[in-house]
Amino acid sequence: MCIADSHPEAEVIGVDLSPIQPNFVPPNLQFQIDDIEKEWTFSRNFDFIFSRMMTGAITDWKTYIQNCFDHTEPGGYLEVQDICYPPRYIDESGKGTSIEKWAANMIDGASKLGVAIDSAKGVKKIMEDIGYLDVVETVYQWPMNTWPADKKMKEIGLWAHHAGISNLDGLSMVIYTHGLGWSPEAVTLFLADVRKDMKNSKIHAYWPM
Ligand SMILES: C[S@@+](CC[C@H](N)C(=O)[O-])C[C@H]1O[C@@H](n2cnc3c(N)ncnc32)[C@H](O)[C@@H]1O
Repeated sequence: MCIADSHPEAEVIGVDLSPIQPNFVPPNLQFQIDDIEKEWTFSRNFDFIFSRMMTGAITDWKTYIQNCFDHTEPGGYLEVQDICYPPRYIDESGKGTSIEKWAANMIDGASKLGVAIDSAKGVKKIMEDIGYLDVVETVYQWPMNTWPADKKMKEIGLWAHHAGISNLDGLSMVIYTHGLGWSPEAVTLFLADVRKDMKNSKIHAYWPM
C-alpha cells in the first residue's frame, strides 16, 4: 500500500525523471516527470518528503537535502530510505567471493562516474548540518538470500534475492563499462559468477538499508 492509499486526506505528488509510474493510482496521487537535481519549481511546500532508493541517482546530496529542507513546511518531515553499498557479512563467509569483488568495483566505478553508492551513510550528518532536528537513523538488514534461520529474515532474504538478481545486469553494466572500462562481454561473464554467489546460502551477506 502506498502513502496516498493510507492517507486519503493527503495530496501526494510522485516525482521521477522517467515515466515509470503505474497506470492505476489513487485519486489523491499525481505523478510529475521532473529532474530533482534541477531547481525545484513546486508551487507549494510539503509536510512530508519521502525519498527512496535514490543512491546512485543523486550526484549532490547536500544540495538535494537542502532543497528538501527549503521546501518542507515548519514542523514537517523528511524520510530518506536507501541501500548502502557494500553488502556486509555476519562472518568471514564473504571473503574472496565474487560478491565482494563486484561490490568493491561498483563503488569504484560509480565514483568514477561522479556518484557515491554508499551515500546513505552520510545522510544523517547532512540532515543535521542543514538544520533538521531529531534526526533518527535506523539500519535494517536485508539478507541477500534465504540464508537466515529466522522465518521473517528468510522471507526478507527471498524478496531481496529476487530484487538483487533481477536488477544485477541493469545496475552493473553502465558502471562496469563506462566507469571501469570493461567490455560488455567481460561484465556478462563476471556477473554469472556474482549470481552464483548471490544464490549461495553459505555466504552470509546482507544489505544495510
Ligand atoms: C532505484 S529507482 C527508485 C524509484 C523509486 N524512488 C522507488 O523507490 O521505487 C531510482 C529512480 O530515480 C530516478 N531518477 C534518477 N535521477 C533522477 C533525478 N535527477 N530526478 C528525478 N528522478 C531521478 C530514476 O528514473 C529511477 O526511477
